[in-house]
Amino acid sequence: MTGSVPGRDAALPDRLRMYGNNRLQIGLFGANCSSGRSATLVPERWSGSWPDCLRLARMADDCGIDFMLPIARWKGYGGATDFHGTTLETITWASGLLASTARITVFGTVHAPLFNPLIAAKELVTADHIGAGRLGVNLVVGWNEGEFEMFGVRQREHEARYAFAQEWLDAVKQAWSHEGDFDFDGEFLQLKRARAYPKPCGGARPIIMNAGSSSTGRTFALRNCDAFFTATAGSRTSLEGNAAKVREIEEEARRYGREIAVYTVGHVICRPSQREADDYYRHAIIDNADWGAVEAMMALRNITAETHSAEDYAARRLYFAANAIGGYPFVGTPDRVADELATISNAGMRGIAVSFVNFLDELPYFAAEVLPRLARRGIRGPR
Ligand SMILES: Cc1cc2nc3c(=O)[nH]c(=O)nc-3n(C[C@H](O)[C@H](O)[C@H](O)COP(=O)(O)O)c2cc1C
Repeated sequence: MTGSVPGRDAALPDRLRMYGNNRLQIGLFGANCSSGRSATLVPERWSGSWPDCLRLARMADDCGIDFMLPIARWKGYGGATDFHGTTLETITWASGLLASTARITVFGTVHAPLFNPLIAAKELVTADHIGAGRLGVNLVVGWNEGEFEMFGVRQREHEARYAFAQEWLDAVKQAWSHEGDFDFDGEFLQLKRARAYPKPCGGARPIIMNAGSSSTGRTFALRNCDAFFTATAGSRTSLEGNAAKVREIEEEARRYGREIAVYTVGHVICRPSQREADDYYRHAIIDNADWGAVEAMMALRNITAETHSAEDYAARRLYFAANAIGGYPFVGTPDRVADELATISNAGMRGIAVSFVNFLDELPYFAAEVLPRLARRGIRGPR
C-alpha cells in the first residue's frame, strides 16, 4: 500500500486521496441493495445480504479498491424481483464494514430531510471513529417522492430541498467543528445550546459528496462538497467529451472559490473475450431485464407510454435498462475495460463507482486483470 495510514492524522487531503495515491480511484456502487445496480432476473443477481457485503468489503480492501458507495433507498421499485426491495441502511452498514476492514473508504448516505442533523452528525462521527477516518458522506435531498410519504414527511419543492440541505449541512459541520455550545438559528432549523463530542477522527471531517444533476443540485455540490458525482459525462470513449465536462464542472467550482474532484459511475462486465462479455451483457441486462422495475423507475421520472410516443417510449425503455440504472456499461476484455477507464482518468475524472451483476463473482477477475493494466498505464499504483 502506498500513501498515508488511516487514523494517524486523517487530514482532509489524506481522506480525499483515500489514503492511497491512485490517480483513478475505483469504488463499488450499490452493494447494500438487492440486485445492486442491475434490474435483472438472472438468478445470480446480487443479494445485498450482510454476509455477502462483508465478504465483498474484505475482498475489495485486500485487492486495493478505494471505496464503497451505498445507495440510500427505502422502498423497492417493484417488478418481478422488487428491484431494491431489500436494502441495508447505509450508516450502520458502513460502520460494520469499517470495523471489518483496514484501508478502504466507506460512504454512508444521508437523506437530509429525514435525519435530525445532530443525530446524523453523531452517527457519522461514530462511524468515522470506527473506521479511523475512513468514512465518507453522500448527502442527498431525496429523489423518489414515494419514499417520503411513508415517513409522513412532506417533500419540499425542488429548490427548497437544497436550501434546507444547505442549513442542514452547515449545522452538521458546526457540530463537527465547534468547541463548546452553539445556537443555530436558520430558516428551517433552530438548535439551542447544541453540543457534540467527539469531533471526527484526527481533527478533520469526513469527505462529503453529492450527485445532484439539476443546476441547483450541482451548484449545491460545487459550493459545499469535496466530490461531485456525475452520471452523465457523455461517451466514455470520447476523451474530449469527458475532458470538456470535467473542465466545465471544475471551472464552475472555481467561481465559488472551491476545488472539486469529479467522479462518475459505470457498470462493468469484463470477460476474457469480447464475445463473452457482449453475450453476458445482452443476457443479463437486456434479455433478462426486470422490465416491471425498469418501467416503474421510468414512471417516477414521468416517462410513461401515455406521456411519450410508442417509438420514443421503446427507445427510452431500452436506454434505461442499458445505461440509466447502472451507468455507462464497460463491457469487454480486460484490455478494453482498462482502455475505457484510462480514457476517463485522462479526461481528468478522479474516480469511478462501478457495479457488477454479482460483485463477489466478478470482482476477482476485474482485480486480477484490469487493475494491473491500469497500474501499467500509470493510472493506479502497483499493489
Ligand atoms: C452516484 C450517485 C449516487 C446517488 N445516491 C443516491 C442515494 O443514495 N439516494 C438518493 O435518494 N439519491 C441518490 N442519488 C440521486 C442524487 O442525489 C440526485 O437527487 C439526483 O441525481 C437528481 O438530481 P437533483 O437532486 O439535482 O434533481 C445519487 C445519484 C448518483 C449519480
